[in-house]
Amino acid sequence: APQFAYRGNELYAEDVPLSRLAQEFGTPLYVYSRRALREAWAAYRTAAEGRNVLVCYGMKANSNLGVLNEFKNLGAGFDIVSGGELARVLAIGGDPGKIVFSGVGKQAAEMQAALRAGVKCFNVESEAELQRLSQVAQAEGRVAAVSLRVNPDVDAQTHPYISTGLKQNKFGIAIDIAPRVYRQAAALPGIEVVGADCHIGSQITETGPYLDALDKLLVLIASLAEQGIHIKHLDLGGGLGIRYKDETPLPPKALLDQVFDRLDAQGLGHLQLVLEPGRSMVGNAGVLLTRVEYLKHGEARNFAIVDAAMNDLLRPTLYDAWHGVEPVQPRDGDPAQTYDIVGPICESGDWLARDRRLAIRQGDLLAIMSAGAYGFVMSSQYNTRPRAAEIMVDGDRYHVLRPRETVESLYAGESALPW
Ligand code: LLP
Repeated sequence: APQFAYRGNELYAEDVPLSRLAQEFGTPLYVYSRRALREAWAAYRTAAEGRNVLVCYGMKANSNLGVLNEFKNLGAGFDIVSGGELARVLAIGGDPGKIVFSGVGKQAAEMQAALRAGVKCFNVESEAELQRLSQVAQAEGRVAAVSLRVNPDVDAQTHPYISTGLKQNKFGIAIDIAPRVYRQAAALPGIEVVGADCHIGSQITETGPYLDALDKLLVLIASLAEQGIHIKHLDLGGGLGIRYKDETPLPPKALLDQVFDRLDAQGLGHLQLVLEPGRSMVGNAGVLLTRVEYLKHGEARNFAIVDAAMNDLLRPTLYDAWHGVEPVQPRDGDPAQTYDIVGPICESGDWLARDRRLAIRQGDLLAIMSAGAYGFVMSSQYNTRPRAAEIMVDGDRYHVLRPRETVESLYAGESALPW
């Protein structure tokens, strides 16, 4: 990630040495680059040049208000999956007309809040949800704009935990029954059919799975049109991968050029294209800074015990995910050894990286790379560990997006029974 690079013997975020941020705010610390956010956004804008594309940032990847506000000001909409995420978008003054609401388990109260806010579209994932949405909308005296999230049964060629477009997944409506459910939707009083939607998985690095899904959706859209159901937009979900190690990410333009070709060929060039990118908007715009507490040289393995843990970054232990580990002030003269980077939590699964060659000493700072997506948002307070602070770097300046939690706040709402 170009916004996190060495200058001399120091790792910087834009024009700020990471060691200065660790000094001022302590560790573990999430550090984001505003410039990297803007570059990620620009890649989508360039790819969409001259076409009707709405980029709805998949905010589950990183929902800090400071990040959301940046994307809002750049013109993004939002893909939300809960009433909580809706509240965040409204809190920054985001345009509800640019919100799509995804998720398999929408509650009636969440539907109600989204209808009142006036979201662009509900991405409906089951017949039961369709029924409930129609009822809630009627009770509100409104009509819910709906896409069906279709499960196209394609293999996204990614980690099984983050692959969502296969038959065995809980997501979406199987493509073979979609025409029937669309007819049902079109007949319901509280529902207006406006789009078609799919999301096949995450960290995808090839166009193949997208194009397979698109082809299936195009067949569906044509058959709907024959039945008089005309949609206005096509939502292809998120899922574009980033480079963690040696992956070759798929640039938005490489995908969209092919998508537009296919739409044009089918005479569907007028459809609005909606995208829901999360990881590719923020993943390489953030690092997790941590300090080495102890080095422990064992017979079988060497451990670097750091002050960040699985509660701060769950991806390694949950998905076996690989994140780069860079010394903030490398010790070029020291001999390197092979370390497992582990946290202080009382679980063997508490590791951040394995088998890394590093020349480090106690007290050194390490940057866990590519931590901007699904990092802080998946953190917990396990072991009564306050969640990390989040900082946004902007050139040679920086802003606290979220202060470190205090220990007292972690148990503030708790109480004991009278004795
Ligand atoms: N739209 C829907 C309906 C989704 O379920 C997701 C992500 C996205 C958009 C954004 O996908 P992205 O562009 O970020 O790939 N925690 C996992 C990733 C889970 C993705 C869940 N859905 C991880 O850390 O790898």
